[in-house]
Amino acid sequence: MRTYNEYRSMAEEALIPALSSLGQIPSPLLEAMCYSLQGGGKRIRPVLLLAACEMAGGNAEDALPFACALEMVHTYSLIHDDLPAMDNDDLRRGQPTNHKVYGESIAILAGDGLLNAAMEVMAAAAVKSGRPEGIRAAETIMRHAGVTGMIAGQTADITSEGKTPREDTVRYIHEHKTSDLLEAAVEAGLILGGASEEQVAAGHEYALHTGLAFQMTDDLLDVTGSAAELGKNPGKDADQNKMTWVALRGAEGTAEDACREAELALNALRKLPWDTEFFKAFTESLPGRKK
Ligand code: IPE
Ligand code: IPE
Ligand code: MG
Ligand code: MG
Ligand code: MG
Repeated sequence: MRTYNEYRSMAEEALIPALSSLGQIPSPLLEAMCYSLQGGGKRIRPVLLLAACEMAGGNAEDALPFACALEMVHTYSLIHDDLPAMDNDDLRRGQPTNHKVYGESIAILAGDGLLNAAMEVMAAAAVKSGRPEGIRAAETIMRHAGVTGMIAGQTADITSEGKTPREDTVRYIHEHKTSDLLEAAVEAGLILGGASEEQVAAGHEYALHTGLAFQMTDDLLDVTGSAAELGKNPGKDADQNKMTWVALRGAEGTAEDACREAELALNALRKLPWDTEFFKAFTESLPGRKK
């Protein structure tokens, strides 16, 4: 297996070529899509996908189209998340948000474009490989991104604004708006690497809890972080009366719960037969992350 930075570079170098492989995208759609896709992100999802594939004994190069597609889906979700009708944010990945640069109409289309491009890239890779694992990985990613996954979580996030926090509701929001795309990464990577159903199920459990630790920390950083470190403006959740883990449990309780979720994720890793150090180190870094 390689290092986090090695997987990140692999994914970053492949992102724009994956988009170009689809043919000529007209201006300003292409520029708007590339603007958000390039630079600044942590690339967690493609890194986890590539690492899971290699951990299971697969070839990371073969998994690259799926890793790129997942980052496209994530990037679309950020463009739409930042729109005035959603979280109304001006800063993302250290730059003005997509709609601030290209206007709302093009930002909406750039998000649509990235989602559709992701489907095209995965379908083409699955057809090319001729292996059922390609179709299964694509199905896994689109399901987790979809109307029972990330979009369901985003819907609950929006409809819960201003309501009294309830643990089951915040958990639902976090599991779907955030854990789902991490589950997509780990499960699709394991599938492409040839893992068994039981191993994919353990990967699911790992990513579920890692996603919860990740989003609890995201909620905490919205209270304690700085724009310079985060690349996005803090203080927005309280402004918008978001139903966050911090609203439910306070800052200290959130930090404790993030550590507990990280522990649960590590327990799931113990069910896997491989060297899981990469994933252990990633999850352990989350409660203390600054960006
Ligand atoms: C931001 O995700 C959206 C959440 C699910 C909290 P990341 O924190 O992974 O964002 P980037 O990709 O690094 O910008
Ligand atoms: C966004 O959650 C999750 C998705 C985009 C799917 P947040 O609204 O908390 O993310 P940030 O804080 O804007 O990055
Ligand atoms: Mg949001
Ligand atoms: Mg937001
Ligand atoms: Mg947030």
